[in-house]
Amino acid sequence: GIRVPVAADQSAVQALHEMGIIIPVSCEQGLCGTCVVDAEGEQAEHRDHCLTTAERRRRVALCCSRASGDCLTVHL
Ligand code: FES
Repeated sequence: GIRVPVAADQSAVQALHEMGIIIPVSCEQGLCGTCVVDAEGEQAEHRDHCLTTAERRRRVALCCSRASGDCLTVHL
């Protein structure tokens, strides 16, 4: 139920951290999967290198991926 704006020059993880929502990260390059959360994956522009096509339907790596449109719903 919380909306978090993500600026063009920041990641979703950074925007969430600014709101006090801490998502664990490690590589911050889409490689390790530490930041992966459940999400409406069809709403995302996936930029990771760790999720399969099937996983991308319901999960998102927040360190590197973004909303493909106006909104990306994640389940934290
Ligand atoms: Fe490694 Fe996001 S922190 S994939």
